[in-house]
Amino acid sequence: VPAHRNLYWKLNWYRHSELEGALLLGKVVRAAADQELILALTRHCAEEAHHAWLWADTLHQMRLPFVRIFRSYQSFYLEHAGMPLGLAEVLALTHVFERRVHWRFTQELAQPRLPAPVRRTFRVLLKDERRHLDWVGRWLATQPEGADLLRRFQAIDEQVYLALAPYTDRIWDIPGLGEESGSVAHADAIHQALVG
Ligand SMILES: [Fe+2]
Ligand SMILES: [Fe+2]
Repeated sequence: VPAHRNLYWKLNWYRHSELEGALLLGKVVRAAADQELILALTRHCAEEAHHAWLWADTLHQMRLPFVRIFRSYQSFYLEHAGMPLGLAEVLALTHVFERRVHWRFTQELAQPRLPAPVRRTFRVLLKDERRHLDWVGRWLATQPEGADLLRRFQAIDEQVYLALAPYTDRIWDIPGLGEESGSVAHADAIHQALVG
């Protein structure tokens, strides 16, 4: 096992979680009726997509391997919660997830031996995260079901955190998370079987 294996698995997982966050937010824009909300959601979606790109670029700059990731961090919430249906649910899930992200990234930044490109990316993301936490928190406070939804997702977030904590230093062992490119050969074999 290469010493930096956990690092590149983690950064690939972050890359993918950002991207799925963007996709989820992009999908709920259609549920928004007023200009201010459409503007905020679209910007939020764009910034999450940008975060995914920043991780992809960081991995590339550092010549770290790309890992195919099958599921985001947030997808583990959905095992407990089911698929969030409406705008308020999506934003409550997003808010709880972003609180977790903010806490986690702050911890990561405190590590002394973090490579400089990774440190730079964490800093950019944390700055955006504070703005995301601010607007979503304020919006949820105006929703009658906001507080209940936050409590519900907060409890789920704690369960997910505890379930994943044992994998902190061996992220590749999280069942079904991803596939390292050793399996390119495997993908080729599947392709051959399909195409002949
Ligand atoms: Fe993000
Ligand atoms: Fe965010």
